This record gives sequence, structure tokens and C-alpha cells, in this order.
Amino acid sequence: MKEKVFVFAALPYVNSSLHLGHIAGAYLPYDVFRRFLKLRGYEVIASSGSDEHGTPITLKAIREGIPPEEIVQKFHKINVEIFKRMSIEFDAYIETSSELHKEITTSFLRKLKENGYIYEAEMTQPFCVKENIFLADRYVKGKCPHCGYESATGDQCENCGQTLEPNELINPLCIFDQTTPEFRQTRHLFFKLSTLQDELLRYIESRDSWRQNVLSFSKNFISRGLKDRPITRDLNWGVDVPFEGYDDKKIYVWFEALIGYLTGVSSVLGNQEDALALWKTPEIKYYHFVGKDNIVFHSIIWPAMLIAHGEMTLPYYVAANEFLNFQGEKFSKSKGTGYSMLQLLEKYNSEFIRFGVLYNLPEEHDSDFSIEEFENRVNNELIDKFGNFVNRALVLSFKKGPVTVDQIAQSELDLEAESNIREKLSSIIKEMEGVHIRNAFKAWLELAYFGNSYITNRKPWEACKKDDANCNAAIYTGTKIVYALAVSGQIFLPETSKRILSWLGYDQPVELKDDLNFPVSRLTAKPERLFEKIVNNELNLNLKVAQIDGVSDHPNAEKLYLLDLNLGDGKRRIVSGIKNSYTKEELLGKKIIVVTNLKPAVIRGETSSGMLLAAEDSKGIHLVLAPESAINGEEVKVGNFHSNFTEISIEEFRKLDIKTVKRDKDIVPALFIENKPLFFEINAGRLVLDGTPEEGLRVK
Ligand code: MF3
Ligand code: ZN
Repeated sequence: MKEKVFVFAALPYVNSSLHLGHIAGAYLPYDVFRRFLKLRGYEVIASSGSDEHGTPITLKAIREGIPPEEIVQKFHKINVEIFKRMSIEFDAYIETSSELHKEITTSFLRKLKENGYIYEAEMTQPFCVKENIFLADRYVKGKCPHCGYESATGDQCENCGQTLEPNELINPLCIFDQTTPEFRQTRHLFFKLSTLQDELLRYIESRDSWRQNVLSFSKNFISRGLKDRPITRDLNWGVDVPFEGYDDKKIYVWFEALIGYLTGVSSVLGNQEDALALWKTPEIKYYHFVGKDNIVFHSIIWPAMLIAHGEMTLPYYVAANEFLNFQGEKFSKSKGTGYSMLQLLEKYNSEFIRFGVLYNLPEEHDSDFSIEEFENRVNNELIDKFGNFVNRALVLSFKKGPVTVDQIAQSELDLEAESNIREKLSSIIKEMEGVHIRNAFKAWLELAYFGNSYITNRKPWEACKKDDANCNAAIYTGTKIVYALAVSGQIFLPETSKRILSWLGYDQPVELKDDLNFPVSRLTAKPERLFEKIVNNELNLNLKVAQIDGVSDHPNAEKLYLLDLNLGDGKRRIVSGIKNSYTKEELLGKKIIVVTNLKPAVIRGETSSGMLLAAEDSKGIHLVLAPESAINGEEVKVGNFHSNFTEISIEEFRKLDIKTVKRDKDIVPALFIENKPLFFEINAGRLVLDGTPEEGLRVK
């Protein structure tokens, strides 16, 4: 009988749509692992879903003045679409506001109560007198007692990271009306976590194969002593509490969201009883893929809930990834750091994104994602190495026609290839079994690099001029490397691998083994090019802040100045025709914007190495200035584009549609692309136009 395994990914909150950090932290590793198990012959149930309750959602609803249902439905749909486009698949993708989930949560809670793990107690909670409601922890803000940060919330200080209780805040205020809350007694249900301390410690200590980050985090948490936890909240959005006296309360979001895994399995199997029965079989193994901020919930709280429920098998593995940073900063939707998945999918093939994330998976350490590196990697490694190798090998193989194993005379290089294939495949399998996805992917990449150098060294086109058996061996082996890459690539780059396998005549998923059965290399369809390179809409415009250090008259032209500029890293001189609008004194010391990669030109015998930006109207010329920039030579960026440093000609520059527009109170320059303005940005401060210009002027 096939071994049964569950694979779970944390249920994302649907207060916003997923960004790349989520994909790297949980969902892509989840999907790769899920695919791996399936190709190894396990019977897999894989699930996740939308975490639709909790204050992240109600807060957003209140702020935007719309019902939480609306927010939840909107982002649930978007996330489902993102997963689909990323080929991240689930057997069940539930919603925690669904009837099924409410039912399963309710019976779970009843069972815990029956087993003596739930009791009632009074606790103090902030109460807003004006609104006549108890305030959830996140609805109170105030000064952090640890670091003095002014806007800490009642659950945590986002500045120093300390977890807080609302009554620890200095000068606590209700976030809705800024009044000071009273602390009143309120009744809640508590989960007896404290009684499970020893059992949970034994559980964690028996998990030798877990990653160090998860183990030490969990042990630390337990060693600080486990306290009973309130599992109800004074809220009106959530799962109802199935006991009397709780009409104005809901079940705490974390308690209930974790039960979402049981809802997932129940929805795949069609009912809760079968799910529970399966969960109670000691052989059942299951894996949780979560971001590192979710560790305790999965390594401690969830196992505790399962123990309290009775006879349930505990998680076999909690895979918590570290964070993926975006160009040095944490991904943050609210701060606008990083890219949302929708933006990325608009621009890039999803297989490129999978490749880019796997290359840089934040498994044991945080890792950093930069668009520039990503694009280079896709172009130089995925496309130039892997893609080209596959193409070269398959085109030759297609020309040659079928080659069976008994028609080949293997050279040393071919034998090396055979052993390399076997070695890389077995290391992929071994690493995947230990949930080391990053290493597994590295092994796959190495096989791709190997293939690339194999074909270069083996030169099948030469072999095929002379000896047929030798030619056959080169063709067969090249194709076999491609086959090995496609079979193992099914877990990493599913769409690409599927295409390759279909050219090779395999229309069904191929089992992943280290000794591949490849009796004949044969192409049943003409291979096509796998990928188109990423062409960057980089802008050939390199703009910098320059301070005018010297102004003199052009010796041979009445209307021109020679401006000596300080760009931080040396001087440069430009020739400029602004004499009618500015005196020398007015210009000295001004911080202007210069196109630094313009092809140098000789103007009336003087070399001009660049050009300044200015707009002209009936009153004269207005310089584009960066008055607040403290740095000479500071780069000026344009929207999402990054400049590339090749030279541009004045004709190319004139084709750019740069106009002045009103932004906030200032008239500023903007580059128009498809009629949308992209603003010029500098780190410190703004760009403005000198004087009182009109909107709509062309900048030149
Ligand atoms: N919604 C949580 C988050 O995004 C994760 C919940 S995982 C669950 O951080 F298992 F509790 F659902
Ligand atoms: Zn703090």
C-alpha cells in the first residue's frame, strides 16, 4: 500500500495579496516538496487556505470603511489566482469563514472541553467607554515600555520586537477615537497549555531532523515556561464560541486557523470522521511549511491542541524558512517595499520566478532578492546554460532519430555523464527527503551546468561525421541528461519540465528515481526554444545631482556658459545655453540635474560632457533642481526603472517624453511612458523646477 502523507502550507491572512516573501518563505517550498512526494509514489493530501479572521483583517475593514467579508473575498480570489499562475497547487484550499471550517472548529473545541483542557476565567482587557466595546490587543496603541517607541500596539512593539500586553503600554489609547481605555474584567475561555509543558518538551527533543532554527526557537519558548492562553476574543468577526454566555465573543484567530489543516484534510476526504481517523494512525506523517514568524504556533501550540484532542499524531516536520529580503529591506506591503506577486507575474514568466526564488531560497538564513540579480540569473543561467543545453542536445537528437542503448559505444565522457546523472539524482532525492530544498535545487543546477559543458566537450556534431556508434552514444547521452533534468525538474520547474518530457514522448508525470530507465532516446516532437530572454526596459538615462562650482563665459560663443560641475567623484565641464536666464552669481552653488551618460559633444571648440535638465516657457529657462540633496553625484532614479550606463545620443534623449507636472504643491519633471508619469526620485528630498514655471513644459 502507498504511504500516506499530508503537506500543509500556512494559511495566509487575506488582508492583502501575497508578495514574493510569502512565496519564498512557505508556498514555493511547500509546492516543490509536495511534487517531490507525489513523484516518489506517496499518496499525498496537500492543503492550505485563506485565514479570514483576526485583527489584521478587521482593522483594514474599519480603516477602509468596508465589511470584512468584502476584503476577504477580494484577496482570497487574488491569492488563488496567484497560486494558479505560479503552478502552486493544493488538493484543498479552504476558507476559514466557511461553514465546514466553523463546524470542524466547533467540534474540535468541544472535544478539548470534554477532555478537560478548557476552562473559564476572568481577565482584564482594555475597554473603550466611548465606543462601548472591549478592545482587541491590536486596537490599543501607546508607548513601548522597553524602547520608548511611540506607536507600539497592545500585542507587540514593531520597533523593538518585544511582545506586549495592552496594560504594559505607557499612555494607552484606543486606535479608533484616541480616548484612554479603561481596564475592565471580562470572561474568556482558556486553553491549559501549562499542563503540557513536559510532554511538549519531550516531543521537541525527539525531533532530531528538524532545522536548527526551529528547534532552538521552540526549546527556548518552552524553557521560558508555558502559560495557559485565552482562546476567545471580544470581537464580532470570527468563528462563534459554541458555549453559553459568549454571544459577543469569537474564537481567537490563531486557535481556529490552525484547525484549518484538519478542515483541509476533511474537505479532501469528504468528511471529518475519516480525516480524524487517518490523523490518528501512528504511521501518518505530515509536514508544515511556514514562515519563521509562525514557528511557535506550529511547533508548540498546534501539537498541544492535538495532544489535548487525544490520540492525534503530531507533526512530523515543521519547515520554517527565514525571510527573503528585498534589496536589503524586509518585504512589506504597508511600506511598499518589494514587489507584489501580481506585479511580478505581469512582467515575468512564472517559471523564471520559481527559478529565481529557488536559487535564493531563505532556508537557513535570510536571503536577499534584487531584480537586477534575478534578471541576470535567469538570462545567464536558466536560459544561457540550461535552456541552450537542452536546445542543442534535443535538436541534434531530433535530427538523428531514435537511438537505442544497444547501438551505442560509450566514451569516457559518456560514462562520466552516466555517473553524474545518477549522483545528482540521488543527491536531489536525499536532500529533498531531508527537506533541504535549496541543496536539492543546487544539485539540479549542477547537473544542468554539467550538461552544458558535456555537450561542449563531447562535440556530437564532430563525432557524427565519422563513427556511427560513437555518434549514437553522444546523442543518446546528451538526451539522457536532458531527460534526467526534466524528470527531476518536475518538482522545481513543472511547466518547463512537462514540455521537455512531452517532446521526449512522455505525456504523464515520470516517477523520480536515481536509476533512470531510458532504453531509447527518441523525440516525438520537434523541440522548440524553451524561453525568451528577459529584455529589460531599462532606461538609457543616467541622471545625477551636480553642484555648480564654477561658471565662466564661453570664449567663442556669446550666449553660452561653461559650467564646472562637482559630481562627487571629480569634475566635469558642460556647455550650456542659459545665459539669458541666469547670472553667474545665481548659478554658483546650485544643485542641478545632469545627464551624465550623454555622448560628449564639442560645441564651438569646447567639449561638453553632459547636459543639464531644464524647461523653458515665455518667462525663460527653469532649471530642474535638487535643493535638498546633500550628496553631489547622487543618482536620480526614475520610477521602477534603473538606468543602465551605456551612452545615449542627443537624438535618443529627445525621444524621451519628459514634461513638467504638478505633484503635491510643486511643479516637477516626470518621464511619461504610455502617457503615465514616472517621477524622478532621489533619496533625500525632491526635485523641483526653479522659479514659477507652468505645467506641461517639455524638459530638455
Ligand atoms: N495567517 C497567518 C499568517 O499569515 C498564518 C496562519 S497559519 C495557520 O501569518 F495554520 F494557523 F493557519
Ligand atoms: Zn519597543
